[in-house]
Amino acid sequence: MRVPPKRIEPVRFTLSTCVLREWRRGDEPSLVRHANNRNVWINVRDSFPFPYTPSDAKAWIRLATTTGLNEVFAIDVDGFAVGAIGLKPGEDVHRLGAEIGYWLGEEFWNRGIATEAVKAVTGHAFAVMGMARVHAAVFEWNTSSMRVLEKAGFVKEGVLAKSAIKDRKIIDQVVYARVRE
Ligand SMILES: CC(C)(COP(=O)(O)OP(=O)(O)OC[C@H]1O[C@@H](n2cnc3c(N)ncnc32)[C@H](O)[C@@H]1OP(=O)(O)O)[C@@H](O)C(=O)NCCC(=O)NCCS
Repeated sequence: MRVPPKRIEPVRFTLSTCVLREWRRGDEPSLVRHANNRNVWINVRDSFPFPYTPSDAKAWIRLATTTGLNEVFAIDVDGFAVGAIGLKPGEDVHRLGAEIGYWLGEEFWNRGIATEAVKAVTGHAFAVMGMARVHAAVFEWNTSSMRVLEKAGFVKEGVLAKSAIKDRKIIDQVVYARVRE
């Protein structure tokens, strides 16, 4: 007898400023509206496109709904996906560490949303995924993201000199990490 595949229930976090939930088909228009912003793009990897088109949104939602369930979350405000936060587990000897990445639509900045989301997802990495360490590498100019990580209990570990190229500039990245207590 064929055993049906076990359905994994999506994890959700209901926070005071937002809900972290799974990506869904139908999120595409809101995703394009908030992701298609140079002020977001300048702070994230080049795999995040600019301009951000409906076909980019479709590809992202296809990926997020088929892989990495409970590792990649939509940041939902009032029912709309207005940002993303996710964990990328390391491999081999780095497998108990994960990189955290996040972005938020500009109209929602400075309301404490990212700080709350980073705290929740880091707690999930430790308690559910069994991670020992969560880290982020922040571009040298991104003081807002450094502040988010500090507020979420991360410690500045050092600077990776000239370790990235963004917008045709060779820049430093500042590494922040939090380890499981
Ligand atoms: C970084 C980002 C996620 C922050 O989200 P957010 O919800 O606005 O963050 P919070 O409101 O939780 O905290 C922001 C903090 O930065 C501070 N801040 C904002 N602009 C700042 C600046 N130019 N210089 C210093 N601090 C700044 C805010 O005052 C706040 O700190 P406070 O609570 O001590 O006052 C958001 O700006 C974003 O999506 N940026 C583009 C993508 C990005 O940078 N992703 C992270 C890549 S590492």
